[in-house]
Amino acid sequence: MMKVIRVNDYQEISQKAFEEIKKTVTEKPDAVLGLATGSSPVGLYQLMIKDHEENGTSYRQVRTYNLDEYVGLPKEHPESYYSFMHRNLFDGLDIPEENIHIPSSEGDLKEQCEAYNRALDENVIDVQILGIGSNGHIGFNEPGTSFDSVTHVVDLNLSTIQDNARFFDNDITKVPVQAITMGISNVMAAKKIILVANGENKANAIQACVMGPVTENVPASVLQEHPDVVIIVDKAAASSLYKEKR
Ligand code: GLP
Repeated sequence: MMKVIRVNDYQEISQKAFEEIKKTVTEKPDAVLGLATGSSPVGLYQLMIKDHEENGTSYRQVRTYNLDEYVGLPKEHPESYYSFMHRNLFDGLDIPEENIHIPSSEGDLKEQCEAYNRALDENVIDVQILGIGSNGHIGFNEPGTSFDSVTHVVDLNLSTIQDNARFFDNDITKVPVQAITMGISNVMAAKKIILVANGENKANAIQACVMGPVTENVPASVLQEHPDVVIIVDKAAASSLYKEKR
């Protein structure tokens, strides 16, 4: 079942998502969290750090699995998702490094994909955090990706490269052209999914995700078939809901 929560602004999105995570780790201190990069979940991560510092909520037993990683950037690169996650979340929590899992794009990529799939099969994600690409992608599963897909290497769409150029001095030639990503079926295996989206740029993707036909052309539309999804959006991202697609 898909529940849509429309709030006023980004701060409220982050707060609502935080409440879900806090509930999960309080009830189940050894929860498995699926985590996402991108700017959308950064406010949530800040609230998790603040709560850890102020209230002592512990992540010592939590295990995390990230959705994706660029291919071709060393993990020390500031824009690798490894660096992003440490800078924006892990460095501020008490989670042990060995509990953190991010797809690795180093070495043999096929082997890395297989190892990640094995780990995901053995560790069912309790709550998966998702952002959404302006073209409806989730993780780096671009339009056209099979709903049966598992962790795989993808060629990024031009629109995704353009969207992400802002992290690379607005220079599209610096943006990696490939990534390794959990597949759609890995994402759908999570017990609960929380998707956060803000801003006008996401309005069409949210409309297609929530109201459009379930089609591989809009990867996020698959979420309509998941038993427990919460979509948290601000007014701008919700602005095309319940209206004709613009
Ligand atoms: C990237 C990530 C996605 C993310 C998307 C949206 O492509 N791979 O997981 O959802 O960007 O990013 P943002 O939240 O910055 O709009």
